[in-house]
Amino acid sequence: MKLKLQINNVIKEAFSKAGIEDEPMSVSEATKPEFGDFQFNGAMALSKKLGKNPREIATQLMENLDLTVVLAKAEIAGPGFINLWLNPFWLASQCELARKDSRLGVEARETPIKVVVDYSGPNMAKQMHVGHLRSTIIGDTLANLLTYLGDEVIRQNHIGDWGTQFGMLIAYLEEIHEDGAVSLKDLEQFYKDAKGRFDEDEGFANKAREYVVKIQSGDSHCLELWQKFIDISLGHCEEVYEKLGVNLTREDVRAESFYNDDLSSVISDLDAKGLLTQSDGAQCVFLEGDEVPVIVQKGDGGYLYATTDLAALRYRAQTLGAQRISYVVDARQGGHFKQVFRVAKEAGFVPQDVKLEHIAFGTMMGKDGKPFKTREGGTVKLIELLDEAVVKAKETINDKESYSEEELEALAKIIGIGAVKYADLAINRESNYIFNWDKMLSFEGNTSLYMQYAYARIQSIFRKYDGPMEGDIIIGDALEHRLSTMLLRFEDVLNRAAVDAAPNQITTYLYELATLFMRFYEQNPILKEGVDEATKMSRLLLADLTAKTIQQGLDILGIETVDKL
Ligand code: ARG
Repeated sequence: MKLKLQINNVIKEAFSKAGIEDEPMSVSEATKPEFGDFQFNGAMALSKKLGKNPREIATQLMENLDLTVVLAKAEIAGPGFINLWLNPFWLASQCELARKDSRLGVEARETPIKVVVDYSGPNMAKQMHVGHLRSTIIGDTLANLLTYLGDEVIRQNHIGDWGTQFGMLIAYLEEIHEDGAVSLKDLEQFYKDAKGRFDEDEGFANKAREYVVKIQSGDSHCLELWQKFIDISLGHCEEVYEKLGVNLTREDVRAESFYNDDLSSVISDLDAKGLLTQSDGAQCVFLEGDEVPVIVQKGDGGYLYATTDLAALRYRAQTLGAQRISYVVDARQGGHFKQVFRVAKEAGFVPQDVKLEHIAFGTMMGKDGKPFKTREGGTVKLIELLDEAVVKAKETINDKESYSEEELEALAKIIGIGAVKYADLAINRESNYIFNWDKMLSFEGNTSLYMQYAYARIQSIFRKYDGPMEGDIIIGDALEHRLSTMLLRFEDVLNRAAVDAAPNQITTYLYELATLFMRFYEQNPILKEGVDEATKMSRLLLADLTAKTIQQGLDILGIETVDKL
């Protein structure tokens, strides 16, 4: 149900009946109930173009506006706005259609496109830390959303598995266990120790550098050891994905090393296009207006982060055939992406009409407003954070009701992980984000728990009522009118959030919907004695559609619902 489109079509028809040439203009949600459900301010915009008084245009429109199906009432307001009220009978019938549809009336795109979503991208040999959390959560939601809307989504986990640190790790492995048969469970400690040796001992450092060259030239023994580090490290990441409930698998991994064989041709292609300049021995691309060039090859022949990203862009556009490529990466890499996107287009690696976007997000901060750290000042490990979320969730719900140990554990996982995800998704993603357990695990406010609670509350109604769901929705009062309008906005909200890559538009919507439902439910009892059958059924149907919408919305955010809370 593209609600705005339906309203816009009515207006378009009025324009054509009035003989006024219109422009594609859209209604917007009314800012106050007394302004109706939607407002149209196109008459204002048109007045300039047509040299007519806006009220005159609005009056002409009004005379030709069909108020029999979608709209019930329209009023001119102020200098030439038109306030619009939806027809309650139409609203009711559309809600019923949505409720019976497994997609809740959300159409799958007529022309789906191929979209690459690049997210998570942890660096191997180190543990994932909170910095990768936001990318993983926001990226997964974006991928879910686009998939739901019908696009063909290709998830790409651009893991950092190539670089000088691996020479160091291998050198250390050789030093402490010549046979290489060492348990690398605590890879992070191992990394720290190796780094310590690297920094203190010149001989060790030289050895490490030799190993880097060996790996890069394909030495099979070194590659075998390197692979071992990657496997263990990736295993750690997968544990986090599993706990987090995100849809990333091994198949989605296209590591930096995947592009190794493409790097020399990236350089030669850039050269053939006349884009390369030698500077201090390095190969660079200078972009007009940019002070710093993009360095694509160092003096010693080594390639850089940007070179790999250029190869990845070429692969994604040309081999995968992506029409939109979205990078969910920390805002601090904004400069990098701006540059590689430009180079990729100028070099013809990516066709001009492919949409390249950096879905930037801010830094995660502690309550003190400083970058999120452990009490001792170290980086917070993701896996520990997620475990803590479950423990905190348990404390939150433990005193609410009595659960069995098993129930409590399962519930705490859903609530704790949901809270971490929701809190991250609910803010404007470009803002820095203050991590606060108490706020995210509150039953009140814009939290996942509030949404899960609203959902469970509706399910409790259906535990008491399990009769047939047959009857009609009857819009009986202003609250029901608003609730049904809100329900029908779902598709518009999803589409807008997909264009803007803004999950917080979904959370804002869900919060408004749940709040509205709670008010509706307080004022309009459903199963109470004295409520007549027709009204009861109508309210049950609205409650059911509300629950389904909340559940679908949360599902896109990667958050589960529970029937009982
Ligand atoms: N490994 C990178 C980091 O931790 C993120 C990778 C993002 N993706 C990309 N194609 N550059 O900063």
